Amino acid sequence: MHRAKIAILGTGYVGTANAVGFAELGYDVIGFDTDARRIAGLRLGIPPYREEGLGEPLARHLRNGRLTFVTDLAAAVEDAAFIIIAVGTPSRPDGSADLSHLDAAVESLRQIATDRPKIVVLRSTVPAGTSDRIAAQLPAHYQLLFCPEFLREGSAVWDFLHPDSTIVGAESDHAAGAYAGLVRSLNAPVMVTGRRDAELIKGGANAFLALKISFANEIANLCGTLNADALNVLQGIGADRRIGEAYLEPGIGFGGPCFEKDVQSLEHVARNSGSPSHLLQATLRVNDAQPRKVVDILEEELGDLRGAHIGVWGLAFKAGTDDLRSSLALRILDDLHARGATATAYDPAIESAELPGRTSIARSAMEAAHADALLVLTEWPEFCDVDPSVLAARLRRRIVVDGRNVLDGERFARCGLRYRGVGRSAVPDSDGAAAVGA
Ligand SMILES: NC(=O)c1ccc[n+]([C@@H]2O[C@H](COP(=O)([O-])OP(=O)(O)OC[C@H]3O[C@@H](n4cnc5c(N)ncnc54)[C@H](O)[C@@H]3O)[C@@H](O)[C@H]2O)c1
Repeated sequence: MHRAKIAILGTGYVGTANAVGFAELGYDVIGFDTDARRIAGLRLGIPPYREEGLGEPLARHLRNGRLTFVTDLAAAVEDAAFIIIAVGTPSRPDGSADLSHLDAAVESLRQIATDRPKIVVLRSTVPAGTSDRIAAQLPAHYQLLFCPEFLREGSAVWDFLHPDSTIVGAESDHAAGAYAGLVRSLNAPVMVTGRRDAELIKGGANAFLALKISFANEIANLCGTLNADALNVLQGIGADRRIGEAYLEPGIGFGGPCFEKDVQSLEHVARNSGSPSHLLQATLRVNDAQPRKVVDILEEELGDLRGAHIGVWGLAFKAGTDDLRSSLALRILDDLHARGATATAYDPAIESAELPGRTSIARSAMEAAHADALLVLTEWPEFCDVDPSVLAARLRRRIVVDGRNVLDGERFARCGLRYRGVGRSAVPDSDGAAAVGA
């Protein structure tokens, strides 16, 4: 069988999942990164981050030779028919996307270009118009596609192998057909469109998911005020197939490396193009305010946060990853510090990190619970398995504020804990007092 060679530039979350994913599909893949330490680790089969389902296929394809990792770009792309670019595109302070890594990658590709035609596939998330600009910088015999990546951290390889669709942004039928052929065995519908449309599909999709989260948080805040149960309300709303239940989850807001930066980037593009998006601005405003709500609840419960010591469960922006990029837990720790509290945090995926307010890191959930009150900031399943009576014996003020609505409030209340969720209705505790949502 002919195995098309694929070079991947950037072996971060997306690049490594793509490298392993394409190897799973039977292709020979070469990963390249400017970070030599990352490449050294990958060569030894060490995933650069915590990710379910990555370690085993990585090791297997290193052994069978389908996957290699190099620090020499020319060697990586020499025999490659496809060059996938998956470098980071973080936010600038004004909300625009910082494309400096992408520009550097394209410039280095240009410098080593040979006469052999290549298909370059941009998978980094970029503002509309970027692919056309990049295409103009590449040699004429290189064809550029923009094929957005929709995987989620925590299930990255599975998502790569089971996409809902493959979007191919192309200006050439030949290149579009070649990429569609490359991913044929994924059995996902392929939509071929212009590059600019594909860029807006990715930006619009992330903006819509972020909008759903901000909407859920506004409804939850209203439920808290009206003493209704946001989980019931949002479940009922999501049961309508026209709406769908996904991402209608109230909590501390959306953090992580994608939603906030991608909404900011689309909002920046809209503003600069003369048609500002009020909806995107509101989505970001609601999200900016949401992390403070859980600290407000804590302050309401404790009376005053000055001098209080708070146990924090969860630092990563979501369960299943050790990614701290734009994690709202960090902003909440900042806020706790600003209001005069200290904190000890526990996250099953994070052993060490520099945290705001000199927050210390505990080695277990129970160690972090030697505190006045507990704040839950990441939805790790293991937090739901904790025995609330053991927790009640540790927490001095017996207050639990569940920023992710993952704990069983009634069970906690039965053990004498005062449980507060986000937008959750009253749960009487064992002393008959009401534990209420925000
Ligand atoms: N993380 C996600 O869940 C996710 C999902 C979909 C799309 N995306 C998008 O994919 C892109 C990559 O995201 P990520 O989370 O994988 O980023 P990342 O920071 O984890 O990885 C980027 C990698 O690119 C490398 N790099 C930087 N400059 C380079 C160069 N010139 N040549 C080769 N490698 C270079 C870095 O060393 C790093 O290893 C971003 O545009 C992001 O928005 C991310």
